[in-house]
Amino acid sequence: MSAQIAIAGMTKAFNKGGVNEVLALNGLTLNIDEGDFITIIGSNGAGKSTFLNALAGCFPLDSGTISMDGEDVTGWAEHRRAAKIGRVFQDPLLGTCAGATIEQNLALAKKRGMRRGLGLGVKSKDRVFFSEKLAMLGLGLEERLKTATGLLSGGQRQALTMLMATMVRPRLLLLDEHTAALDPKTAQMILELTERLVVEQRLTTLMVTHNMQQAISMGNRLLMFHRGTVVMDIRGEEKKALTVEELLQRFTELRGEEGLSDRMLLC
Ligand SMILES: Nc1ncnc2c1ncn2[C@@H]1O[C@H](COP(=O)(O)OP(=O)(O)OP(=O)(O)O)[C@@H](O)[C@H]1O
Ligand SMILES: [Mg+2]
Repeated sequence: MSAQIAIAGMTKAFNKGGVNEVLALNGLTLNIDEGDFITIIGSNGAGKSTFLNALAGCFPLDSGTISMDGEDVTGWAEHRRAAKIGRVFQDPLLGTCAGATIEQNLALAKKRGMRRGLGLGVKSKDRVFFSEKLAMLGLGLEERLKTATGLLSGGQRQALTMLMATMVRPRLLLLDEHTAALDPKTAQMILELTERLVVEQRLTTLMVTHNMQQAISMGNRLLMFHRGTVVMDIRGEEKKALTVEELLQRFTELRGEEGLSDRMLLC
């Protein structure tokens, strides 16, 4: 079976030629299979977010290629790729439009990938659909369709963003530390929602996390990033058997005298 997403030699440097030049992605090569739920770990600055941004088409690559569903998308602009990609960021404020109501945000999400304009009109049959989707979250948001999104808590907004990112089935879902800004209980709620949406729909998903236990227990495949490339790629039974201690050991070997990042979480 050919990979759903094939990444070959992906390279990206920032501030090229300047004193602050950083090689954020260094010839990264990776095949992602249909339905892969991949957790990604790596120390600060390892290139995890840059990798997700590169897949989303936020900037042109210096070299390398990306193909999705057998089609070369390397030259595709961000808006064109957005038809295939759902994203959730660390900051709950980024995924939704604060001034628009819950139903208006959902209406925008429903139009992802369509050519028509981004009007904020909501049809009554959509309202029923949105209510059903929102009820799934168990947060009572189905009673608040006309509430401005800016009035919601961070966790509520992040749950809404998850719903928006998956409302039109994405070919690829990108989650970049999407629970890191939330309190532990809310983070747990969002993680359970993630499991539900991703596993039930078999969405091809990349989830960046600093929580190693999460990286081990969620998904079918784990990648460790270091200096812009993948240094560990573990799946299936081998992944399930991994321990936090082993991952820590690997981090320590990679980082040498730099020591462990203070953002590395053990549980
Ligand atoms: N737009 C940019 N301009 C300049 N440098 C950048 C830019 N984006 C990322 N970098 C640099 O590229 C490197 C990789 O950054 P990236 O954000 O991908 O790391 P990360 O693995 O996501 O780290 P973290 O765990 O801290 O989120 C870093 O050195 C970062 O400073
Ligand atoms: Mg990052």
